[in-house]
Amino acid sequence: MGSLNNAARRHAEERDTSLPDFSAGGGASSLDRSMATARRGTIAFEGVEKTYASAGAAVHALKNITIDVPGGSIFGIIGRSGAGKSTLLRTVNRLERTTSGKVIVDGTDVGVLDEEGLVILRRRIGMIFQHFNLLSAKTVWRNVALPMIVAGFPRVEIDKRVAEALSLVGLEGKEDTYPSRLSGGQKQRVGIARALVHHPEILLCDEATSALDPETTLSILRLLKDINRRLNLTIVLITHEMSVIREICDHVLVLDRGQVAEAGPVWQVFANPSHDATRALLKPLDRDIPEDIAVRLRPAGDRASKGTLIELAYTGEGGLEPDIAAIAAAAGAPVRLLQSSVDRIQGHVHGRLLVIVNSTDSALIETMNHLANRVRVLGHVGNDV
Ligand SMILES: Nc1ncnc2c1ncn2[C@@H]1O[C@H](COP(=O)(O)OP(=O)(O)OP(=O)(O)O)[C@@H](O)[C@H]1O
Ligand SMILES: [Mg+2]
Repeated sequence: MGSLNNAARRHAEERDTSLPDFSAGGGASSLDRSMATARRGTIAFEGVEKTYASAGAAVHALKNITIDVPGGSIFGIIGRSGAGKSTLLRTVNRLERTTSGKVIVDGTDVGVLDEEGLVILRRRIGMIFQHFNLLSAKTVWRNVALPMIVAGFPRVEIDKRVAEALSLVGLEGKEDTYPSRLSGGQKQRVGIARALVHHPEILLCDEATSALDPETTLSILRLLKDINRRLNLTIVLITHEMSVIREICDHVLVLDRGQVAEAGPVWQVFANPSHDATRALLKPLDRDIPEDIAVRLRPAGDRASKGTLIELAYTGEGGLEPDIAAIAAAAGAPVRLLQSSVDRIQGHVHGRLLVIVNSTDSALIETMNHLANRVRVLGHVGNDV
């Protein structure tokens, strides 16, 4: 880590002589104050209402939302377009003010904070976006450093934090690169590094993977999960992709027309949706997985999980074929073929296999990746499957 920091510092000095020395600034004391607060990352919505006044009729975007987000959890928010997801998320760092009701972050009512309190709060809450929101004329280093430069941190601290954050998201060595030279996944990694540079307790993600292809989505989700576990960071995540929720969330909140339709642990809500809105949202998943299996899926990390449900998809590219022996060898554990829909079209294999591997090893995907055009984990199962 030390050499990494030195390398990053050297980079910064060589590259950016215009960066002011903020060592006399007041940023560090603000940080100390915010760090002194218990790092729990809990959020409580208490009777939250939001009404937007508009030229025509007022829009009642949030109606009496009362729910707790446990600290250290990955909390998904789903709902149809216009359900109020972004509005609710943005009340957490007060980008939106509630019309009534309270949002409490670690015991602090965010509605009563003064300007200074709000600045401190926002350092404790990172945010990432669908379109990354990077500054195209600034290097990766500058993009990540920016929140700390604005906050007036000493140069040496900025160097240390930026190096740490870039290392965490796997972008060491990209300090001098401009965003236009990065892939979508790399840009989102820069966005995540920037969001983490203040060591926040909470990370808000508004459709952070919607602009990415499925493979990149998976790598970003893995990164988010890794960050959640390593830093004990609370992640609140909005997505339209139900597979994303199933892949990484612990809890899910279903919003319908501004109201809580239902909420609970993902495995419970997905296995037994009680609201029409939830059932409608989950429809695309039903087509993925046989119903008897779908109702028994468990969240990743569930202690009762014994096996992993994996989909291998074949698109005809690269001459990949469903080779059962190779799949079993790569899995390194007993494999059951659950479903197959494979066709040969003009000599190319199209379709997919669903298999259950008797292992919950998170490295399964890597070992099986080369066997099909797309390999993904659909969920985990216990002994009852
Ligand atoms: N600034 C605003 N002024 C007026 N109405 C707004 C404003 N922002 C959101 N709304 C309205 O509030 C409701 C909730 O919007 P919100 O953006 O929270 O929905 P969403 O669930 O995030 O939808 P999407 O999935 O499309 O992003 C919608 O009816 C929207 O039109
Ligand atoms: Mg939205």
